[in-house]
Amino acid sequence: MKILLLGSGGREHTLAWKIAQSSLTDQLFIAPGNAGTAQCGTNVSLNPNDFNAIGQYVLENNVELVVVGPEEPLVNGIYDYFRANSGLNHISIVGPSKAGAALEGSKDFAKEFMVKNNIPTARYKSFTGETVKSAIAYLEDNKPPYVLKADGLAAGKGVIITSDIQEATGTIKEMLLDKKFGVASEKVVIEQFLTGIELSVFVLTDGNNWLLLPEAKDYKRIGEGDTGPNTGGMGSVSPVSFADATFMDKVRNRIIQPTIDGLKKEGIDYRGFIFFGLINVDGDPFVIEYNIRMGDPETESVIPRIKTDLVPLLKACADGDLSAHKIETEERAAVTVMLVSGGYPGNYSRGYPITGLNNDSESILFHAGTTINNNQQVVTAGGRVIAVTSLAMDAKQALQKSFEMAQKIEFKDKYFRNDIGFDIIK
Ligand code: AMP
Ligand code: GLY
Repeated sequence: MKILLLGSGGREHTLAWKIAQSSLTDQLFIAPGNAGTAQCGTNVSLNPNDFNAIGQYVLENNVELVVVGPEEPLVNGIYDYFRANSGLNHISIVGPSKAGAALEGSKDFAKEFMVKNNIPTARYKSFTGETVKSAIAYLEDNKPPYVLKADGLAAGKGVIITSDIQEATGTIKEMLLDKKFGVASEKVVIEQFLTGIELSVFVLTDGNNWLLLPEAKDYKRIGEGDTGPNTGGMGSVSPVSFADATFMDKVRNRIIQPTIDGLKKEGIDYRGFIFFGLINVDGDPFVIEYNIRMGDPETESVIPRIKTDLVPLLKACADGDLSAHKIETEERAAVTVMLVSGGYPGNYSRGYPITGLNNDSESILFHAGTTINNNQQVVTAGGRVIAVTSLAMDAKQALQKSFEMAQKIEFKDKYFRNDIGFDIIK
């Protein structure tokens, strides 16, 4: 089978690494990919949001299966584009329809969906420019911390949490009136702050059946001890110790199944991954957010723990029948440490040569932001640069291996967090 994977980050290198291991894969193309994905297949210089170009490439190269890594093309309707085009509607595509992608593309839609389907989530209200006065009154009626969320996609920056009422009211005005996040903040969700520890749960669904993937915890803040600004993610750990059988039963019964049932009830075509961003509030799971794709850097610790060939699962998912499939999971734990460019998530430089990548360590190196320059050197090309994943019988050993490897890879101004897993690895 010829497969096209869309995206260019650590998530995509991990998916490409796994897909390339399948005996069913004849050829793998990655658009646009990075220096790491080039080791797993052929990078193709196409923009995942240019649907005409993607469609044309698929036809010219006899691609049978398209796997969409990031959310943006899905929210923009790539699935619907393929379905609506008579030349392309026979192609299998992993990723939800635009209607399904609204679970991530619109916080307001996601909240309404959860309330309708009795899925536990923080209490909330939505506001627009016309109701900014009510938004301020709502903030004043509630206790801090205040949680403000831009309705649309805002590149991970659309959530503001503050305990300062002045800042909260100022921000709500900026979002609704000054369009701080463009159209994404024409609507804003204000919700109750939940206290607990977060985890990420993933399923692959054909819209009817679903398979649970290993869970993970990610570390979003740049600084040790979970301090400083949010990043795309500085590391991840799988499994998560508090996600025991009792907790996961609650997740299945209260969250996953009602979500699948809710999508079915609304007639939403959903064939792809669902990422449940959860918070454990005194033993009960609540949904913080839905994402319609795999997480990054969770993928880097989740996928290496899946023993099953992913390609038959992806194909069956896209073709609407996962019922005969199962996922077999590694007993070993995985820990991912992300090496980032100095300055990230603020300004940083690109183009620094990376050394220490070619060695026979037991760790797996997933490229997040790399490229090959004119001198055929692998160089930095993003904030998050390399994800180091290690597997071991327990998370502590996996962590140790990843830290050792993280020290051996060098590029100018490299930074990584030394405390990934600090709260769950004993
Ligand atoms: P999101 O972009 O929705 O993932 O939100 C970013 C981060 O904000 C989440 O990972 C949480 O750490 C935090 N967060 C979002 N909503 C809430 C909430 N209702 N209560 C507490 N923390 C939240
Ligand atoms: N690691 C969080 C995300 O992928 O959104």
